[in-house]
Amino acid sequence: MHTAVEKTIGESELASIVSDLARKITVDYKGKNPVLVGILKGANVFVADLMRELDFMLEVDYMVVSSYGKSTTSSGVVRILKDLTVDIYDRDVIIVEDLIDTGLTLSYLKENLLSRSPKSVAICSLLNKPSRRKVDVTIDYVGRDIEDYFVVGYGIDFAEKFRNLPYIARYKEELD
Ligand code: IMP
Ligand code: MG
Repeated sequence: MHTAVEKTIGESELASIVSDLARKITVDYKGKNPVLVGILKGANVFVADLMRELDFMLEVDYMVVSSYGKSTTSSGVVRILKDLTVDIYDRDVIIVEDLIDTGLTLSYLKENLLSRSPKSVAICSLLNKPSRRKVDVTIDYVGRDIEDYFVVGYGIDFAEKFRNLPYIARYKEELD
């Protein structure tokens, strides 16, 4: 058995997706001093690129949540492995996620953050698989809708591998 990855969104395309998102978010949040909440580990690279193009005062914090383990299907069980260090009471919050698939992780996280009485909670996701949605969740900023295939790279993993690819690739497992 061997694995293969096939580039689907290249470096320059990613850069323009990030710039477009940053332009929109900058228009909406100028003067507001929001807290960006990056969801680790997958959103690590995306947050790093996005925040450097946001032209307003902000704070950045991270949460670590577990979703899939080594499987490629959602368990629906979300565990918070590392919580925020910033108090988001009365703050504008922007959750920054790598990919929304079933929506289970984000709907859980949004409810969790809303229970801390922030001023607002918005969601920004680099990628979105609308055909896989199981629960309704409003994504305020979407980089790119993709078909139902498993992706890796640009921070996104399969069983902790391929996060270091500088582009988004389709992950394939092939039997020899
Ligand atoms: P959801 O709860 O099903 O929306 O899953 C969200 C999380 O699952 C994302 O933040 C990813 O970390 C992970 N995930 C979903 N689809 C993929 C994929 O194609 N590749 C890698 N991780 C994925
Ligand atoms: Mg994730």
